[in-house]
Amino acid sequence: MLPFASRVSVVGTDIDRACALLKEDQVVAIPTETVYGLAGNALRTEAVARIFEVKNRPTFDPLIVHTDCLEKVLRFVREMPERAQRLAERFWPGPLTLLLPRQDLIPDLVTAGLDTVAVRIPNHPLTRSLLARLDFPLAAPSANPFGYISPTTAQHVQNQLGTQVPYILDGGPCQIGIESTIVGFELGRALVYRLGGISVEDVEKAIGPVEVMTHSTSNPRAPGSLQSHYAPRKPVFIREWESLSNEYPPEAIGLLRFTELLSAVPTRNQVVLSAKGDLSEAAQHLFAGLRSLDTAPVKVIFAELLPEKGLGRAINDRLRRAAAK
Ligand code: TXA
Ligand code: MG
Repeated sequence: MLPFASRVSVVGTDIDRACALLKEDQVVAIPTETVYGLAGNALRTEAVARIFEVKNRPTFDPLIVHTDCLEKVLRFVREMPERAQRLAERFWPGPLTLLLPRQDLIPDLVTAGLDTVAVRIPNHPLTRSLLARLDFPLAAPSANPFGYISPTTAQHVQNQLGTQVPYILDGGPCQIGIESTIVGFELGRALVYRLGGISVEDVEKAIGPVEVMTHSTSNPRAPGSLQSHYAPRKPVFIREWESLSNEYPPEAIGLLRFTELLSAVPTRNQVVLSAKGDLSEAAQHLFAGLRSLDTAPVKVIFAELLPEKGLGRAINDRLRRAAAK
């Protein structure tokens, strides 16, 4: 048995090393502007199987395929509807994932047997140079154990998957901080499958009205949109904290707040997402904030909902799912 230290992943900015491991069908954690991904060769079932294994993710939940240019995207999709084209031009590279009819070279394991493949061109300089050097795309879910909060720093990945991932490419803290917006097309309709880093308003500015899917645990069309997701280990409530303040002493309560602290709870157990009330900044801090409350010496976490507009919708979606048990 190897000594423990040699089984802990290496963290660094060495693209050569990441390339070499990926070419050997190993997994590598990669930075993106949304969250860190756990990447493997999307064209190799062995590599993709390793991703599912490391994340402990059920194989009915399909993965997003990442590459660095539209020309490469066209190698693994059969067609690109006009509205998809417009979204790609407007938002790639960026926090947008498109569901498109897939070519056969994408293994079934990537798409969970669906006829569509989820595709994204991420916007992070390190990962873009990595992708540009590979002659295969990378399948990459968020680099967290299935069901837990997505990682927004290399340290988050190391804390949770450190013993199973040989290399973590460190690109600093993620600038967007929540996952990509997923858009698909069905019978002429444009559907938002997951709210994310691009607001519904911005999607609609580009292609006109869209429908936002309501998620449920049993919706076969959005296999990964499980209701209880992005969840800390501690119970999360999105009620006003006062409603339970007689059940827990103030020291046992962690608060996730939008703009300001509350005097009734110790400051050390509170996270303010954006003192100036900026929704992009709040998104950037959301997952790190939930993680720090999850490790704080509190028993429960009370989260405040943000304004239901722009990125506030995606943030609230994550909070509701973190609170769903
Ligand atoms: O920002 C992101 O999208 C990050 C970074 C790493 O790119 N990735 C990410 O992947 O959030 P993941 O696996 O955590 O979430 C992907 C979601 C899942 O809910 C999955 O069910 C859905 O995309 N998905 C993938 N392929 C799909 C398909 N063909 N049809 C419907 N949903 C799909
Ligand atoms: Mg995820």
